[in-house]
Amino acid sequence: MVKEKTVFFCSECGFEASKWMGQCPGCKKWNTFVEEKTVARKTGTVSSGIQYKERPRPTAINKVEITEEVRIKTGICELDRVLGGGIVKGSLILVGGDPGIGKSTLLLQMCRNLSDNGTAVLYVSGEESLTQIKMRGERLGAKSDKLLLQSDNDLDNIAASLENTGAEVLIIDSIQTMAAAEVDNAPGTVTQVREVTSRLLQMSKRMNTAIFIIGHVTKEGMVAGPRTLEHMVDSVLYFEGDGNAGFRLLRAVKNRFGSTNEIGVFNMTDKGLEEVNNPSKMFLNGRPLNAPGSVVVCSIEGTRAIMLEIQALVCNSNFNMARRTAVGVDYNRVNLLMAVLEKRAGMDLAGSDCYVNIAGGLKLSDPSADLGIALAIASSLRNRALDEGCCIIGELGLAGEVRGIRNIMQRISEAEKMGFSSCIIPASNYDKDKMMNLNIKIYPVSTVNEALSLIR
Ligand code: TYD
Ligand code: MG
Repeated sequence: MVKEKTVFFCSECGFEASKWMGQCPGCKKWNTFVEEKTVARKTGTVSSGIQYKERPRPTAINKVEITEEVRIKTGICELDRVLGGGIVKGSLILVGGDPGIGKSTLLLQMCRNLSDNGTAVLYVSGEESLTQIKMRGERLGAKSDKLLLQSDNDLDNIAASLENTGAEVLIIDSIQTMAAAEVDNAPGTVTQVREVTSRLLQMSKRMNTAIFIIGHVTKEGMVAGPRTLEHMVDSVLYFEGDGNAGFRLLRAVKNRFGSTNEIGVFNMTDKGLEEVNNPSKMFLNGRPLNAPGSVVVCSIEGTRAIMLEIQALVCNSNFNMARRTAVGVDYNRVNLLMAVLEKRAGMDLAGSDCYVNIAGGLKLSDPSADLGIALAIASSLRNRALDEGCCIIGELGLAGEVRGIRNIMQRISEAEKMGFSSCIIPASNYDKDKMMNLNIKIYPVSTVNEALSLIR
């Protein structure tokens, strides 16, 4: 007889415990434990990982043969870039994002390109009927007979279909709707999601198929269900964006086959997702000219330089505790920069509310935006606009010093390309020979006060 056991899982991180707990010891979140039944496995089966035909043996590193990594181009440059140059055969890729952000659209579009180029693709949806997928496919212009659809949520059926069709790429839309028959729990529960993922992992390695798993994201921004999923897959991509603005960002947070800094930028149109080849132009579009508190910075995202507008609004506080809000930049970083302005530039910010926002919904982590944020705050406080043709680059230290940053020439040439007339840069990055003959005026600064004296 199979023995049934009740266990508790943290719905955020997948922590397993035999009794209910208020706070998860794993991720420290409150009230996340859910009760689930698990069935004790037959001994001898491997629950996760790869099943080998023969027992693996240790091999000397210089005897290991490198097989050429085979990558399939998706025909969507932005997606290829985020994947690290295309789809690696036999890899397992998790694509997370809010419901309705466009995950199904992106992957169906990828399937269209792949099947048009002769790659056999299987798209399995547990959420939509064949007619619904077909209707979406019509909009996207998918018509190849290499693109196979299946509306199903039983993993055994899917495994059989994969075996029969020999598809090279499999899409699972979404992990929360799939169920493995040997587990009793409802689809979407921690146990089920884990089991399905580990089975898919085995399938991808055994059949050398690239498998894309779509996963919905909770309000906290994690793939609903266990975070442990992220450890099992080869790559984790997040598709995010402002629901109202039409554009979407694809970001890799884990990638065994490429860099994680790359972002892909898309625009949602009535014919599906369109690639944005010049993100700077899109992010600067509609920027207010001659407005106090608006500053343009240049950030490096992966291999690309992207220009962005930072907006700050400083006003008198009506409360004892001044309010500070940061959207798209780290809140603590903003507090730190305000402290530097108070102490090193003698600005009185203690009684002021301050709001900082990255226009366009991008999240910035590049420290080269520090000086730009500080100048935006100063500009709003003084109520004087900066020269709109000036781009500001530099990291700010606690002593008020402007520190050097990487890839300066790439940033300057992006500013030049976008038609900017001047650039404030860290003095330590200044290279007279390289920067003398540019069409853009360069102002090297070494302290925040120097930068403040340069602007109007
Ligand atoms: P979808 O891919 O279904 O989202 P997800 O799979 O992440 O839940 O995208 C749904 C949204 O995209 C929906 O609001 C309609 C919009 N959309 C377009 O604007 N144009 C299109 O051509 C398509 C297919 C969808
Ligand atoms: Mg969908």
